[in-house]
Amino acid sequence: SWTMLNIVEESVEAVRRQVGDGRAICALSGGVDSAVAAAIVQRAIGDRLTCVFVDHGLLRKGEAEQVERDFVAATGVRLRVVDASDRFLKALEGVSDPEEKRKIIGREFIRVFEDEQRAIMADGPVDFLVQGTLYPDVVESGGGTGTANIKSHHNVGGLPEDLQFKLVEPLRTLFKDEVRRAGEELGLPSAMVWRQPFPGPGLGIRIVGEVTRERLDLLREADAIAREELSRAGLDREIWQCPVVLLADVRSVGVQGDGRTYGHPVVLRPVTSEDAMTADWSRVPYDVLSRISTRITNEVREVNRVVLDVTSKPPGTIEWE
Ligand code: XMP
Repeated sequence: SWTMLNIVEESVEAVRRQVGDGRAICALSGGVDSAVAAAIVQRAIGDRLTCVFVDHGLLRKGEAEQVERDFVAATGVRLRVVDASDRFLKALEGVSDPEEKRKIIGREFIRVFEDEQRAIMADGPVDFLVQGTLYPDVVESGGGTGTANIKSHHNVGGLPEDLQFKLVEPLRTLFKDEVRRAGEELGLPSAMVWRQPFPGPGLGIRIVGEVTRERLDLLREADAIAREELSRAGLDREIWQCPVVLLADVRSVGVQGDGRTYGHPVVLRPVTSEDAMTADWSRVPYDVLSRISTRITNEVREVNRVVLDVTSKPPGTIEWE
């Protein structure tokens, strides 16, 4: 729309004034905020922006490709991709505690990003760090600005405060729906623009138990089926998000053909919400649930049971970990 076009253009102009002929870096997460922020800064300063995508191996099916291929094609952004999944898996070995997982994933992310930052700075100084901070984040963190106020929150994108960068925050005055409209205006892939909330630690906190490559692959398949069927049923906008959780430490008996199976359950956790502070379980039609269940148990080896979470928040959180 005309107003959104204006907002984008003004934002591009403001970034140009702020950064001058300096250089900037930006960490992409696969989500809409960092993508829109990066696209605006790219318009403003072109190749003087370098984006870094740390692939921690905990994203859902197709999401890494969306960043590496579709986002780059749409924006022409200069991107460095780090395939760090081995490193993250190694660091997560033997770990089942949810907070411990978050800590490890956050720590490894910062280490990998710092290595990249050093490599980028070998070509010359970088003064600016791009962050996809939204207006509600600004309000929540007290409205401050400058270098120190980096909201590490529980986002994997949280960066250490001793990095002496000036922040570029082109989304500081925008709400989420405005960011999505800006993303459309900028021609970003619609799967990114409309992506539902997804936690920074990714599938790492959707495997109850230890995170292994095999379990991640199982969960990725089950999650892709659930997302596909929910989309096909036209429920994307109605549902706030639908975590699919693998109960990797639980097995139950099943039967398939002539044989008994002893596999894992997955949990579907579709919720409706306004802001994730409270949520209700979503009344997904039975026939949609039935298709998801049939397909997951047919197509995902090792999963022989699909269960539905009917708990509101509170008392249940949206995620299981
Ligand atoms: P809970 O599970 O607390 O989740 O009801 C509320 C919202 O926050 C997301 N979430 C996270 N996001 N890092 C994130 O970036 C995290 O560690 C994390 N934990 C939960 C969750 O998906 C929901 O949208």
